[in-house]
Amino acid sequence: MITPLIMAGGVGSRFWPLSRKDTPKQFLKLVDQDQSMIQATVDRISDLSSYENIFIATNQNYLADIKEHLPEIPENNITVEPMGKNTAACIGLASLYIEQQDPQAVMVVLPSDHLIEDESSYLEILNTAVEVAKKGDNLVTIGIEPTQPETGYGYIAYDQDEREIEIDNAFAVKEFTEKPDLKTAENFIEQGNYLWNSGMFVWRVDTIRKMFKKYMPNLHKGLERMKEAIGTEQEEEVLVEEFKKLDSISIDYGIMEQADNIYVVPGDFGWDDVGTWSSLERFKEVDLDGNLVEGNHIGLETKNSIIHGNGKLITTVGLDNVIIVETDDAIMVCDKDKAQDVKELRNKLKSEG
Ligand code: GDD
Ligand code: MG
Repeated sequence: MITPLIMAGGVGSRFWPLSRKDTPKQFLKLVDQDQSMIQATVDRISDLSSYENIFIATNQNYLADIKEHLPEIPENNITVEPMGKNTAACIGLASLYIEQQDPQAVMVVLPSDHLIEDESSYLEILNTAVEVAKKGDNLVTIGIEPTQPETGYGYIAYDQDEREIEIDNAFAVKEFTEKPDLKTAENFIEQGNYLWNSGMFVWRVDTIRKMFKKYMPNLHKGLERMKEAIGTEQEEEVLVEEFKKLDSISIDYGIMEQADNIYVVPGDFGWDDVGTWSSLERFKEVDLDGNLVEGNHIGLETKNSIIHGNGKLITTVGLDNVIIVETDDAIMVCDKDKAQDVKELRNKLKSEG
């Protein structure tokens, strides 16, 4: 059985003020006017697996939104973390419910907020990854040819000439480095044998459980206790108790940086993680002045800017390379080159109430 697991518990803070604690990026219609990011994710994977086998991992805060956006997903397939403890815990908890259905299920772990342009090529790549995962205790990632020394991604070092597995387009990974600093990322790009980690992973559920035991023994211990409690009256209480004890750590740091049984399947299917406001320019049409305008805008000498309105007339004079976002209760103006720092801005807002 192939079980997609869509991770939908992140906060997507770089799209503030449109993304909020209550409405993170996966629930926004950023790319397509008719579909939220998570609806598009489920849509494209439903060609690989029926809705009955698709799992969604989220937390209490977003449960109602998930049900609203994805009425076709059976309620039992929504795994609810009592609190956000990042992707290792998210995958760990979901693996308990998945192994109940099939202890050898192949999990296809997917982010809920990415753009994929070529869906048939994407499915082909995932099928190759599934094949590798079925073959043994392999952790399989989907790699993307990097274009710049982006520091927000994981990097996968691999050797195209060193085939350790008899499957076309699958390569053994030498090293996995999550979110390197700029200098290291530049170095990787220069060396050339690196791919970006797309954040999609494929493995058998029994394989990832073994990896938790080996590399994240605390999480493993917690999972074992949760497993006992699932389906009993104590389930909720035990999940809360155990989650409280867990460190907040991503699968990339917790497992992928440690493991030595990783394979990569390189893919070229128009992947974009839609990470910041400025990323929207990569796939939305800009006007003759280089502006990407949504909403009501009149400008003079305004170019290369992103303007996202919410009804009010936005007027600008003499602007270049700026982002303006208006929502019901906030306005954000930002240098386009600083779009990454919106995350920091949001953290500041949080700490200052
Ligand atoms: N259920 C649940 N619970 N989902 C979560 C949680 C959680 O606690 N934390 C994050 N997610 C979801 C997010 O909603 C997103 O869909 C996915 O997990 C990945 O989390 P991000 O927070 O977006 O990760 P990232 O972008 O910093 O890094 C990952 O993706 C990059 C590619 O976009 C890593 O895998 C990098 O290595 C990779 O390059
Ligand atoms: Mg992300």
